[in-house]
Amino acid sequence: MEFRIALLPGDGIGPDVLEQAVKVLKAIGNRYNHSFQFTEYLVGGVAIDQVGQPLPPETIDGCLTSDSVILGAVGGPKWDDLPGDQRPEAALLGLRGKLGLYANLRPAVLHNALRDACPLRPDIASKGIDIMVVRELTGGMYFGDRGRRQGPMGQEAWDTECYSVEEVERIARTAFEIAMKRKKKVTNVDKANVLESSRLWRSIVLEVAKDYPEVELDHLYVDNASMQLIRIPHEFDVLVTTNMFGDILSDEASMITGSIGMLPSASLGKGKLGMYEPIHGSAPDIAGQDKANPIATILSVAMMFRYSFDLEEEATAIENAVTKVLEARYRTGDIMSEGMTLVGTKKMGDLIVEAL
Ligand code: IPM
Ligand code: MG
Repeated sequence: MEFRIALLPGDGIGPDVLEQAVKVLKAIGNRYNHSFQFTEYLVGGVAIDQVGQPLPPETIDGCLTSDSVILGAVGGPKWDDLPGDQRPEAALLGLRGKLGLYANLRPAVLHNALRDACPLRPDIASKGIDIMVVRELTGGMYFGDRGRRQGPMGQEAWDTECYSVEEVERIARTAFEIAMKRKKKVTNVDKANVLESSRLWRSIVLEVAKDYPEVELDHLYVDNASMQLIRIPHEFDVLVTTNMFGDILSDEASMITGSIGMLPSASLGKGKLGMYEPIHGSAPDIAGQDKANPIATILSVAMMFRYSFDLEEEATAIENAVTKVLEARYRTGDIMSEGMTLVGTKKMGDLIVEAL
């Protein structure tokens, strides 16, 4: 098959890790007879520096006419003082909105070989962690009405949480569909004891659940969910929640695996077009030094094969290659421990290609 891939390296270690992901893609192409046409586009801080805006229109058009998008990372101290809508991060929100990527999949998996990196008690870690966080990505407070005004006590600012039936329905459906391919359990996280938007959210999730009688559904308030995630992480399978709560809980879920440098993500919409990126940030302090862990980006490529191209074999091949390299005790600095072999970004990419 032939695929057009938009590459958005972005800032910091973004280009470092993307280079390795492309290596892996080419290797998969050779082995399974696919060809890829890569086009690079500007996004984030580099785009601000070169063309004066974080998300140039050519980047949006380029992504929209591609089969899939791979993004490195955006942001850095250099651009921290810019106003909110001109910061590199604004490009991320713009891409999600413009490409209609309403479903964000963030798997948090504790790899066997990295069990020691888990910050939880060994008796909890030993039960394993394999959670798929399904975060709504183009609605809620991130995209709601906001502003500033003069109030009775001086200046005020507000952001609004608003969800339509359609927005909740489609994300709930995504969660149930994914659960059907996993352990058939969905945990809905909301704040229905306080928020009206959550009460609507929950009622729609209950409606959608009727189409998936095989899936076990439970509901947690977000404060309780944040506790249960560290108390009984092994009891979670698919967790579905709003944009805001998902932002927070996906960081928590990734931290309990001890290796944020390992975690991929997929952002999906109605069609096949998806955006795939590592969960970690741009880590400007180690950019260009061959120190970054490319595994999260490489595993994001695996997700691309699975979710955008429906090529499960290719996806599994990449995941198995990563496992093999970890089991052979190779580590980048972020996941290094005693008795392991420390390797750089490029070497890690080469090892994964070899293991394919
Ligand atoms: C994430 C990030 C972004 C978000 C920021 C950088 C805008 O934290 O992808 O989780 O809040 O969605
Ligand atoms: Mg976040």
